[in-house]
Amino acid sequence: MNFDKKHNRFNTNSLKWNVKKDELAMWVADMDFQCSKAIRDALYKKIELGIFGYEIIPKDYYACVIEWLEDRHKLKVEKKDLLFCNGVIPAISSIIRRFTEVAENVIVQSPVYNVFYSCIENNGRKVVENKLIYKNHKYEIDFKDLEKALSLPQSTMLLLCNPHNPSGKIYTTKELQKISDLCKKYGVLVVSDEIHCDISQKQYTPFSSIDKDCISIISPSKAFNLAGIHSATIIAQNEILRNKIKIAINTDEIAEPNSFAITASIAAYRHSKKWLDDVNAYIKSNKELAKNFIESNTNLKVVQGEATYLMWIDCEKLCENTDIFCEYLRKKHKLYISKGSIYRGGGEKFIRINIASSKDTVLEGLKRLEKACLNF
Ligand SMILES: Cc1ncc(COP(=O)(O)O)c(C=O)c1O
Repeated sequence: MNFDKKHNRFNTNSLKWNVKKDELAMWVADMDFQCSKAIRDALYKKIELGIFGYEIIPKDYYACVIEWLEDRHKLKVEKKDLLFCNGVIPAISSIIRRFTEVAENVIVQSPVYNVFYSCIENNGRKVVENKLIYKNHKYEIDFKDLEKALSLPQSTMLLLCNPHNPSGKIYTTKELQKISDLCKKYGVLVVSDEIHCDISQKQYTPFSSIDKDCISIISPSKAFNLAGIHSATIIAQNEILRNKIKIAINTDEIAEPNSFAITASIAAYRHSKKWLDDVNAYIKSNKELAKNFIESNTNLKVVQGEATYLMWIDCEKLCENTDIFCEYLRKKHKLYISKGSIYRGGGEKFIRINIASSKDTVLEGLKRLEKACLNF
């Protein structure tokens, strides 16, 4: 696959590229690469038939997910542990409604993916931030503060992001074990969003391998660039929890696949391994390119993350709050990136840049960033 090839995504209903013609979009988390040929071929076949009726979830879907988890992540699960859902966020939102009450606390490790906050708050629950400690351009867990948050009587759920968006941090097995032990001590349910686990330079530990009573969610959407296909799998090894989730996602009507979700997911997990390895290598080199460029040409500092195609960049030496800088960057230098404040937890000193584009595009974006830093 030639990841250097540029694709015109203007006027395609792309959320990311719903920008002015002269603007460069490096914000929302999808990639500018075509998905694998195996996925495209499988979808072409479906389109050729031209009938888009209701779909089942075949045994083969579960078999693919089981094989993927075992081969790629050394996690052994059975068919009965898995539930299809049409997105990670729909699953999280439904699980929050089913397993917590209005006004209870859901703990997050901030700065974290902004939609976590709306998911919790739109459902009338409270966000409790267990702020990650930022030290030497890396993030660590504040376990003392975590225990304090877990011990609050109203705390009933921890929403984990592993690997972590926006920092790219991959939690170590030791850290996850400690999180699990503390949550067990206080009877807090762990929901682990693992959507970013397949774009990574290092092996990650699935939370389900540590805690059989957690709920974790995976999806091919980030790694195989299928966000608009809406496909995810909930892993719940505990039968009682799983039965409750089954009812929750069915009453919320988010348990049935659209015409493309199953076909694309099977083609991804079963026939796109080489494509994934190649895209991971390309992303790694883009990250290196961006880090070298940014640290040689600006006073910004890259936070070293091992996962995701998102770069979390420390702007402390440039400004106190990147909201105005990001506005200026878009208006004057035509570069659209994510401002750090939306991730809370001290994120206002950072920006997030999506580097899952051709090298030329990334370089153009970096040049605009450099110019903006010089003139801000
Ligand atoms: C951590 C995390 N979870 C969930 C999502 C979105 O998942 P979905 O599109 O399946 O709802 C994203 C998208 O960026 C994400 O970063």
